[in-house]
Amino acid sequence: MTHPLRIALAGLGNVGAGVVKLLDANADLIARRAGRPIEIVAVSARDRTRDRGIDLARFAWVDDAASLAARDDVDVVVELVGGSDGPALTLARRTLAADKAFVTANKAMLAHHGLELAEAAEAKGVALKYEAAVAGGIPVIKGLREGAAANRIHHVYGVLNGTCNYILTTMEAESRDFTEVLGEAQRLGYAEADPSFDIDGVDAAHKLSILASLAFGARIDFGAVAITGIRHVIAADIAEAGALGYRIRLVGLGEASAKGLFQRVHPCLVPIDHPLAHVTGSLNAIVAEGDFVGRLLFQGRGAGEGPTASAVVADLIDIARGATGPAFAMPVAELAAMPAAP
Ligand code: HSE
Repeated sequence: MTHPLRIALAGLGNVGAGVVKLLDANADLIARRAGRPIEIVAVSARDRTRDRGIDLARFAWVDDAASLAARDDVDVVVELVGGSDGPALTLARRTLAADKAFVTANKAMLAHHGLELAEAAEAKGVALKYEAAVAGGIPVIKGLREGAAANRIHHVYGVLNGTCNYILTTMEAESRDFTEVLGEAQRLGYAEADPSFDIDGVDAAHKLSILASLAFGARIDFGAVAITGIRHVIAADIAEAGALGYRIRLVGLGEASAKGLFQRVHPCLVPIDHPLAHVTGSLNAIVAEGDFVGRLLFQGRGAGEGPTASAVVADLIDIARGATGPAFAMPVAELAAMPAAP
């Protein structure tokens, strides 16, 4: 095998720790599939002393995450810090400017700055990859960017937030109260640092704007997403919907038509025989309809340590194999500036 792919990891929360564990547990298999070993060389996080159940002594520790971009012993920087701006964005810009590949799970940053970062990656001929940013472990980015790349896609929609789905489906199954279940989802590690991003639909909207860009060949337009969250859904709504043959899900929906790009996130009444009605707990599911392939359904774990780490490492394997290619399936200059449909 040839030289290893050398990784710097910024952020050692659930997902960061999961990436370390996965690269340890499946090192041989990953090296065989990637064509070379994938090795972490440096890490950065806020708290050096916290016990994460992993041995960090073998990696260089860096206090200032942004300095990872400048290291000569690093080929790829993985950003698991979060936040649309601040340290994550600084790290992204510096990494790409330093001709290094960048892997992120940061949907907020991509929703706001994805086009700028994709342009920077294109200019340098390096990879910008973000499978973990949308729907956790589900390979929907790869599915749309590669598997369905030959299709015109008119609709993309789905359950995009594990926290909301966990809350709604637990309320449904156990007739329990919203706030009580929210606390549980937070303890399980699905919720964002600011859980209002989850329950107010902002996280799902970030993900939808990324999916819409990929699916429709459009410039990301997060500001045009109409957003309503689940804060006001009560157990009685769920019971009444059930009596009428529906389940309530927070759905993100994107549609491209002659009127423009239509993007919205809100609680939906989903007929009981629709696949989305059977998406429970932290599962996510995405439906995309292509003109030649027909209806695709992607389903799996949309949040949590293992599934999200799986997506991050999938991106690393792609990079180890030499994949670059445009982040949003076509060069940024080719993406259409679609007007927001009324
Ligand atoms: N807070 C997100 C969710 C995490 O609940 O889906 C995964 O993006």
